[in-house]
Amino acid sequence: MSEQEGWIAVAASKGLRARPLRVLVDGRPLALFRTDGGLHCLTDICPHRSAPLSQGKVVGDTIECPYHGWRFDGSGVCRAMPGLLDNMPRALVPSYATCEKDGLIFVARQRLSEEPYTTALSGHAGVAAIVESRVRSSLAEVAENILDATHTHFTHKGVLRGLSSRRYKVQVTMTGGDGWVEARYEGEPRQEGLISRLLEGDRTISVGRFRAPGIAELEFWGRSRINLATTFHLRQETTETVHGFGILSAPDRGLFGHIKAALFKPLFRVALRQDQQILQAADENRRLFGERRQMIGPLDVMRPHIDAILSGRWPEVADRPATLTMEL
Ligand code: FES
Ligand SMILES: [Fe+2]
Repeated sequence: MSEQEGWIAVAASKGLRARPLRVLVDGRPLALFRTDGGLHCLTDICPHRSAPLSQGKVVGDTIECPYHGWRFDGSGVCRAMPGLLDNMPRALVPSYATCEKDGLIFVARQRLSEEPYTTALSGHAGVAAIVESRVRSSLAEVAENILDATHTHFTHKGVLRGLSSRRYKVQVTMTGGDGWVEARYEGEPRQEGLISRLLEGDRTISVGRFRAPGIAELEFWGRSRINLATTFHLRQETTETVHGFGILSAPDRGLFGHIKAALFKPLFRVALRQDQQILQAADENRRLFGERRQMIGPLDVMRPHIDAILSGRWPEVADRPATLTMEL
C-alpha cells in the first residue's frame, strides 16, 4: 500500500458483485469480496501455494482458494482445510479495512476513525456520476493534470474551453496544510466550452485542491454554493499505471439537472481521453529519453506542492499563502 496512510478508492461498488475481485495498489494485489457479513479485503495470495484468492469463490462467510480449497474469513483467518480430520494449524492472510461510500469501495491498512472523504457534495448531491479512467503515468503527473488550468486551452479546446483563444486575467491564491494544497481562482468568467456551458451556471470562483493520499478535486462555485464538483480518487496501480475514479456532482436542479448530467458524462469522458492521450505520450517520451528533470514553469502553481505532499512533507504555502495573477 502507498506510503501515505488513509482510505484509498480501489473499485466502484457496482464492479464488485458475487465474484471476488482483484485490485492493485502500488503493484500489490488485493482480493475484494462480499459475504452476508459485509465487504472484505485480503492480500490476494494464499499462504499455502500462493494461488490468487480472487480466482476462488465466496462460500458462506469465507473466500475459498481455487487450488486446494482452503477457506479464509474476512479477517484472513483460515476456517477450513478440506480433507483434514485433525486439528487445523493456524493460517492467516493479511487483511485490510474496507468502507463503501457514494458508490466507491475504499481500503486502508487499518480501520480508520474517519469515513473516507468522497466529494464536497456528499449527502447533498442531486446528480452524481462516476467515471473511471486508467492512464500510463505517475500519480503526481495525473493529479497535476487534473488541477492544471493552463493546459485546457490546448488539450481541451472546445470541450472545456471555447474555440476562441481569448484569455482573462485571473488571480490565483494558494493555501495549504498537512496533506493538502489548494488554488483558488478568482476573476475568471464562465468558461465557454461545452461542459462549462452545460453545468456550471454563473461562476464566481473555482478551486483546485489536492489531498493526500491521491485526491484531486475541482469545485466551481456560484454566488453561495458549489455548482459543480469533480473529485478524482487516484492511486498508483502499478509502477506504470494510475487508476482513477472521478465523482461528478452537482446540486439537484430537478429534471433539467438530470438531463444536463446525462449529457455531461460523455463529454467528460471525451476530456478524460484527451488527457489520457497527452499524459501517455509524455510518459512514453520520458521512457524513450530516460528519466529527466522537468522544468517547473512560473505558472505551475500546484506541482511543487503535490510533490511535497506525496513525499510526506507539508506544502510550502502552508506557512506562507501565495498569490499570483495570470491570464487564463
Ligand atoms: S494454494 Fe490455496 S489452498 Fe493450496
Ligand atoms: Fe485536462
